[in-house]
Amino acid sequence: MAMITLTGGRSFKLLLLHAFLLTMLSAHLSPALGFISGVGVGDANNIRCIEGERRALLEFKKGLVDDYGRLSSWQSGDGNKNCCNWEGVRCSNLTGHVLELHLSAYTGDGSGMKPFGGMISSSLLELPYLTFLDLSYNDFNQSYIPKSIGSLSNLKHLDLYDANLGGPIPHHLQNLSHLQQLHLGGNHLENIENLEWLSHLSSIEDLDLSSTNLSVANDWLEVVSSLPNLKTLSMRSMNLSSFPRFNDSKSFASLKILDLIDNQLVHVPKSLGNICTLSELLLDINHLNGQLVELITNLSGCAKDSLELLSLSNNQLTGSLPNFVIFPSLKEIDLSGNKLNGTLPKSIGNLYKLEVLRVYSNFFEGVISESLFFDLSKLQILDLSNNSLSLEFSFDWVPPFQLDAIFLTSCNLGPRFPNWILTQRNVSSLEISNTKISDTIPAEWLADLPPTLEHLDLSNNHIYGRLPNVSPKRLNELAIDLSANSLEGPLPHFATNLTILNLSKNQFSGSISSLCKINGQLLAYLDLSNNRLSGRLPNCFMQWPKLVILNLAGNHFSGEVPSSLGSLSVLNTLSLNNNNFSGNLPSSLRNCSSLIVMDMRNNRFSGNVPAWIGERLPSLIFLSLHSNRFNGSIPLHLCWLKDLQILDLSLNDISGTIPQCLNNFTAMAQKRNYSFEKLIPLSYDNGGMATLVQEYFDTVMVELKRNEYEYHGTNLGLLKIINLSSNKLIGKLPSEISSLLDLFALNVSRNKLIGEIPQMIGQLKQLESLDMSWNQFSGEIPSTMSELNFLGFLDLSYNNLSGKIPSGTQIQGFNASYFIGNRALCGPPLTQKCPGEETPNRNEATAKDNEENGDELVKWFYVGTGFGFALGFWGVCGSLVLKRSWRHAYFLLLDNMKDWLYVTITVNIARLQRMIQRQG
Ligand SMILES: *[C@@H]1O[C@H](CO)[C@@H](O)[C@H](O)[C@H]1NC(C)=O
Ligand SMILES: *[C@@H]1O[C@H](CO)[C@@H](O)[C@H](O)[C@H]1NC(C)=O
Ligand SMILES: *[C@@H]1O[C@H](CO)[C@@H](O)[C@H](O)[C@H]1NC(C)=O
Ligand SMILES: *[C@@H]1O[C@H](CO)[C@@H](O)[C@H](O)[C@H]1NC(C)=O
Ligand SMILES: *[C@@H]1O[C@H](CO)[C@@H](O)[C@H](O)[C@H]1NC(C)=O
Ligand SMILES: *[C@@H]1O[C@H](CO)[C@@H](O)[C@H](O)[C@H]1NC(C)=O
Ligand SMILES: *[C@@H]1O[C@H](CO)[C@@H](O)[C@H](O)[C@H]1NC(C)=O
Repeated sequence: MAMITLTGGRSFKLLLLHAFLLTMLSAHLSPALGFISGVGVGDANNIRCIEGERRALLEFKKGLVDDYGRLSSWQSGDGNKNCCNWEGVRCSNLTGHVLELHLSAYTGDGSGMKPFGGMISSSLLELPYLTFLDLSYNDFNQSYIPKSIGSLSNLKHLDLYDANLGGPIPHHLQNLSHLQQLHLGGNHLENIENLEWLSHLSSIEDLDLSSTNLSVANDWLEVVSSLPNLKTLSMRSMNLSSFPRFNDSKSFASLKILDLIDNQLVHVPKSLGNICTLSELLLDINHLNGQLVELITNLSGCAKDSLELLSLSNNQLTGSLPNFVIFPSLKEIDLSGNKLNGTLPKSIGNLYKLEVLRVYSNFFEGVISESLFFDLSKLQILDLSNNSLSLEFSFDWVPPFQLDAIFLTSCNLGPRFPNWILTQRNVSSLEISNTKISDTIPAEWLADLPPTLEHLDLSNNHIYGRLPNVSPKRLNELAIDLSANSLEGPLPHFATNLTILNLSKNQFSGSISSLCKINGQLLAYLDLSNNRLSGRLPNCFMQWPKLVILNLAGNHFSGEVPSSLGSLSVLNTLSLNNNNFSGNLPSSLRNCSSLIVMDMRNNRFSGNVPAWIGERLPSLIFLSLHSNRFNGSIPLHLCWLKDLQILDLSLNDISGTIPQCLNNFTAMAQKRNYSFEKLIPLSYDNGGMATLVQEYFDTVMVELKRNEYEYHGTNLGLLKIINLSSNKLIGKLPSEISSLLDLFALNVSRNKLIGEIPQMIGQLKQLESLDMSWNQFSGEIPSTMSELNFLGFLDLSYNNLSGKIPSGTQIQGFNASYFIGNRALCGPPLTQKCPGEETPNRNEATAKDNEENGDELVKWFYVGTGFGFALGFWGVCGSLVLKRSWRHAYFLLLDNMKDWLYVTITVNIARLQRMIQRQG
């Protein structure tokens, strides 16, 4: 889906905002959303429901699969006879007839999506007074829309959006002559031959046909354009490659909002410009190309006077900005993610109605001065991020606007902290990351942040000095990102409610016990990595029950890990690597049953590798205990980790044998990856926090790029690695290892392994790195090894191997040093000739090249298991975005609001409220 095309810095911010938005929504809007899902009506107690309708509802319930128990109030027992009190049901307070069914999978109570399965029963027929039916976002497993819906002749609102419905659209819908709102989009409807039925629905005002395949329904435009009252038309993701011409004078008589997001349109037809009522035109994520000015010319019909919102983000428009003054009503422009260049013309400053200006990720350049903004007193959202713009305002400039959201990432604002920001007292999002600020943060501002602020990102600057305490006088939960600056001194007090705190990559020092003051009911993300923090961890983690990501890596923490970490039952990621932690892993960690990543590398942990890791942390994908003092043997229970993709136990004192049950690592044995399936329940449980996992790894990936690691393989999503190097393992390498068909790297070097190399090792076709050096392997190198076509690094040195090195293009390419120290190996690349064989000399240069490649990979393997994993993880998460249930969780609201592309918290809350009003 579209998100893929947005990969890059921006998408991460967007996702962050999404996640954040969801938290915010659940925090602030749940009462309102609860209203949407119709949790009972105030005076319903006095109304009795009609017996026949009660039975119909029970029958309807029978068709549904209610995994979440949402309809537990729908009971046949005597105690609960009044169906007007049932969840989602609303009756007429005069007649007692059921009028409304609010059964969207989105419950609005902050608990995420709770879809029904099953099917829509035709017993709805018995609810003849129904005016409102919302079944959106459920999962009806491609069952058909029942024809009987056509008999609900009083229906005004029918919402079946994204409910995984299949089959044709029953033409019986044509009887719904009062229908005003019809949402059929986001389903898998097929065999739609025509839309004749729709032409009977003259009351329709709001029609959503998104992702419906109308390639055969040649009449769609004719039908849709002649609906006399149609105000909102959504046709997202319909593979439209053009918008056909229509009769300008008779068509779309009332159309206000036209949503064509995520199609394949290459140009905008002039006809659209002739819809005189058009106020919102959304063309994001299409293939619009050519000069923006031409597109604007096509819209210069009568629509130019009514147009308030023009959204063209994520296309391929070129050229410089034309004069938008031809659109005198314009309130919102979004040109983000195009190829526009030149400067921002002064004419923008004449759009005095402008509320939203988004031009991020283009090639704009030049200096913007305060004069551009003189008349823009209504501006609420300004997004100039990721261009080459410099903002040069006089120091004491007081802008005419009060912004809601400021996004200036990668603009040049420095070197002083931009003083005008301090005048913005209504701001909810402030992103001024990477803006060349080389200054301190004004202490008085930090002590008195705007009460509306929800998201503060000052990362990647050169902000220095100590951080003063952050104000407690706040209305909202706050997400703070001050990472990658030069802040120092002790951590301040955050006597405030935080959702995200990222202080990584600074020089903070001292203890972190002051953090225990954070009100952490909603804290989901705590990243203090790469500072100079020290001391023991305070035992206050039980205060942060919603923590999903905890990263304390790269500090000087010492002592034992406190047992309260075990109260983090939704924790996905625990990174304690690169510290001086010691002692046993606390057994309370067994309660962190949602852990996906457990990174304990480079500490001084000791004791046995706990068996509960395998028994109680079933979701682990990444487990690294590299470079600690773990001893004992590898517990068999580790084999229970069927989702494990990275297992790194290297550099410890682990003894005993390698368990044979290795083949139980299903994720390593199969191409399929379980990992993202795993994440999805989290999206339900945590109100969207799984996105943060993605964001986290996105950051790691950026680092990876910076370090110029490049992995040329194709399967980034599926990197699977076992590293048991540098322990005291004895016995044989179990032949079961050869069933881990998808293994990418295997390192068992520097142990005391004996016996032969498993014969079937050649089955590991994906293997790119194999290190078995410094053991006591004996016998011949299995000839199957020459079948490892991707092998980029192989080290068999210092064993007891003998016989001829199998010939295969890869193997002879490796440097001879990777075979030395064996008893009796012969043949190329060794100079030692096998008995009775004459071998020509190898080309020196080739050998050297290969050696370098090999070294690079070794470096990658050791330094980079984390990175590699990140790559893998990113791949996984990238594809996650395609998943239906994922979309459910994250794009739901945004989809509904028709604007997730330019989401910001405030805008969306505003829109959501609008939506609520509309629906309510
Ligand atoms: C029924 O509800 C409507 C609106 O909800 C209200 O205006 C009306 O007074 C109610 N009638 C009775 C009899 O409660
Ligand atoms: C979905 O439908 C298919 C075939 O129609 C059926 O095989 C499958 O079991 C159904 N799945 C669920 C979860 O009901
Ligand atoms: C549609 O309405 C007509 C009369 O208005 C009726 O005869 C017909 O049965 C209805 N069709 C359905 C599917 O309800
Ligand atoms: C749309 O429907 C047509 C005809 O039913 C079919 O040939 C085509 O493959 C469908 N397109 C998609 C993208 O499913
Ligand atoms: C904008 O880019 C085009 C090429 O894409 C170039 O020809 C033109 O000179 C650029 N204009 C400016 C003002 O930089
Ligand atoms: C912080 O959250 C707690 C509940 O978690 C709430 O009682 C308190 O009012 C919130 N404080 C602020 C300043 O939002
Ligand atoms: C394989 O893993 C499953 C759980 O995933 C476990 O029940 C089973 O005992 C394991 N088998 C072995 C041989 O460890």
